[in-house]
Amino acid sequence: MKKLTLTIGRKDTVACDITIGYDIMDRVGLLLAKDYGKVKCVMLTDSHIASLYGEEITRRFHNMGLAVTMITVAAGEATKNMETALSVMKKLLELGADRTSVIIALGGGVIGDLAGFVASVFMRGISYIQIPTTLMAQVDSSIGGKTAVDLPEGKNLIGTFYQPQAIYIDLKFLETLPDKEMKNGLAEIIKSGIIEDIGLFNLLEAATKPIAERDRKILATIVEKACRVKKGIVEMDEREKGLRRILNFGHTLGHALEAESHYELSHGEAVSIGMVAAARISEKLYDLPSLDRERIEALIAAIGHPTRIPPSFATEGILGRLKMDKKRVGDTIHFVLIKKIGFPFVNGGIEENILRDVIEELRS
Ligand code: NAD
Ligand code: GLY
Repeated sequence: MKKLTLTIGRKDTVACDITIGYDIMDRVGLLLAKDYGKVKCVMLTDSHIASLYGEEITRRFHNMGLAVTMITVAAGEATKNMETALSVMKKLLELGADRTSVIIALGGGVIGDLAGFVASVFMRGISYIQIPTTLMAQVDSSIGGKTAVDLPEGKNLIGTFYQPQAIYIDLKFLETLPDKEMKNGLAEIIKSGIIEDIGLFNLLEAATKPIAERDRKILATIVEKACRVKKGIVEMDEREKGLRRILNFGHTLGHALEAESHYELSHGEAVSIGMVAAARISEKLYDLPSLDRERIEALIAAIGHPTRIPPSFATEGILGRLKMDKKRVGDTIHFVLIKKIGFPFVNGGIEENILRDVIEELRS
């Protein structure tokens, strides 16, 4: 098992430990029993994960001295809303939860965001634990304390910053993860390499085959490296006042494409095209070496994500979505760009004609 410690604030207060390993659920049960064996523990999960792992994890934890009660919600993004959050809180009350209770989030980013949000407001805040089961949640959403629910007007419009007590990453969960979800997570790992860790980027280039075969050793290495990148950025800028924005590399255009496709494009596919666009803008405006841009496109293609915008997408539609980006400041759409791989910066605003050119280029 590997352990990383996330610290926040000037006094380097430990926010939480991130433990990574294979088959660690018995040990997690023991550790949780030590801290929470005498309080009400509620595990929040979704319907897919409940049928795959619910019984097994409940039994393992029980054997280690931790009694957990499960709350199951429907799988999928549509669940991540205020109505579900309220229904979970009502169930917590029915189960006798109080201010000492703990919520264990067993699932992908939907469950992690929802559980974190509920934990942050229930009885003015109770403890929660992240046990992420998708690759995306393991390397990204479980780390950093962003919690959220969606509104009909847009995703993640209600939320809090609220750190979990601990994050336990069991790579064994990846064995049942569908390829599409694996690739969503790999897009975020590529992003981590591009913005912060050229060593990780080089490794991804060299290891596309074992990664596709889900080789245990390589997955453990890239997950740990990506977690280090996310942890390091969150430690420097928990509340996204500046530096944390670099985690949005590829996401500005990515979110616009996802919305324009009515979520037919997966998050990983949309962010992949967004990363290609950001690299092209960086090459045009900030002398990103062409070789770096080519390497980014080749790596994205090698993991099986698109590098071009589907021709059915209208340029004006994408530009319109970009103008509605929820992270814009006033009328300015900030893009995360790179000077070279590993050297990101936030641009002060890209002129519309440059964006239009790059979108047109990528549609051809
Ligand atoms: P998800 O939680 O919907 O999970 C994807 C699918 O995989 C679901 O059907 C789920 O049931 C299934 N699944 C999960 N683990 C599995 C496993 N081990 N085996 C088989 N199936 C499994 O999607 P996601 O991509 O994990 O998360 C997306 C959410 O994360 C979005 O709501 C997004 O807004 C949020 N997010 C949050 C942050 C943050 O910092 N908080 C960052 C990025 C994304
Ligand atoms: N995934 C973006 C962030 O955590 O800030």
